[in-house]
Amino acid sequence: MRFTVAVLPGDGVGPEVAAEGVRVMKRVGERFGHEFDLHYGDIGGASIDKHGLALTPETLKMCKRCDAVYLVAVGGPKWDDPLAKVRPEDGLLGLRKGLGLFANLRPVKVFPMLVDSSNLKPDVVRGVDLVFVRELTGGLYFGKPKKRWETPRGRRAVDTLAYSEREIERILRVGFEIARTRRKKLTSVDKANVLESSRLWRQIATEIASGYPDVELEHQLVDSCAMRLIQRPADFDVLVTENMFGDILTDEASMLAGSMGMLPSASLAGVPRGGVSRAFGMYEPIHGSAPRRAGQNIANPIAAILSCALMLRYSFGLLGEAEAVEGAVNRVLEEGYRTFDIMVEGMKKIGTREMGELIAERI
Ligand code: IPM
Ligand code: MG
Repeated sequence: MRFTVAVLPGDGVGPEVAAEGVRVMKRVGERFGHEFDLHYGDIGGASIDKHGLALTPETLKMCKRCDAVYLVAVGGPKWDDPLAKVRPEDGLLGLRKGLGLFANLRPVKVFPMLVDSSNLKPDVVRGVDLVFVRELTGGLYFGKPKKRWETPRGRRAVDTLAYSEREIERILRVGFEIARTRRKKLTSVDKANVLESSRLWRQIATEIASGYPDVELEHQLVDSCAMRLIQRPADFDVLVTENMFGDILTDEASMLAGSMGMLPSASLAGVPRGGVSRAFGMYEPIHGSAPRRAGQNIANPIAAILSCALMLRYSFGLLGEAEAVEGAVNRVLEEGYRTFDIMVEGMKKIGTREMGELIAERI
């Protein structure tokens, strides 16, 4: 089959890590007889430097014409001024909104051979295999009013946490559908003891649960969820959250896996049914641009490579191909190869390119 992919390498380690994802896609193409047409574009700081905008209308249009978007990382100290008119992150938010990517999947799986790389005790992280389903185009990030102004008594600023029934329902459905293909447990995260939007969220979750009798639904307050995530993370299967709650909890959860360099993500414009789909989506590792690591061939490309696997699964409906990529990552880790971020004594330390090559060879 033939697929078109928009590739947006972005800033910092983005370009070198994207190259390894592309290497893996090419290998999958050869091995399984598919063709991936790649269209490169600018995003984030790289786009600000060239065009004065973090996301140009041309890049957005190009992404819309493709079957999926592969984005690596945006941002860096160069563009960090809090008063700046344009920020690299605007590129990311613009893509999410502009492409209607409302469902952000962030799987956190602790590879058995990496339990010692986590800061947490091996007994706590062993067996962790969970997926966050984070709402991505609503809530506090996008609610209006959102502004800052001067008053006689000082400066003020406001952000708004608003959700419609439709927005809540579709993200919960993604959670239920994913839970169905896994251990059938869904944790709906909210702050229903304080927030009105959370009370609506909780009510809708309970209403639509009747359509998924095979999935066990639990409600969990966001603060105690943060606690349980490091207390007994292996208990979770699928968690579904509001945009900002998900932003915070997924950074916390990333530490279970030892390094952010291991974690992929998918942002979908549709509800995947049965664990695979042909939904339009954007795929990105959850680590940032790591400017201090850039250009040294040391960054871990595994998150970016696993993001390709998610693209194969959720946008191209290619389950076997996705599993081949995940299996290859597993093999390379089993053979003892490690990038610096997951290195422990007795293992073989390698760079970005070598890791990409070893994984591609094993597909
Ligand atoms: C993430 C990031 C982004 C977010 C930033 C870079 C805008 O933290 O993807 O989690 O807050 O969503
Ligand atoms: Mg974040």
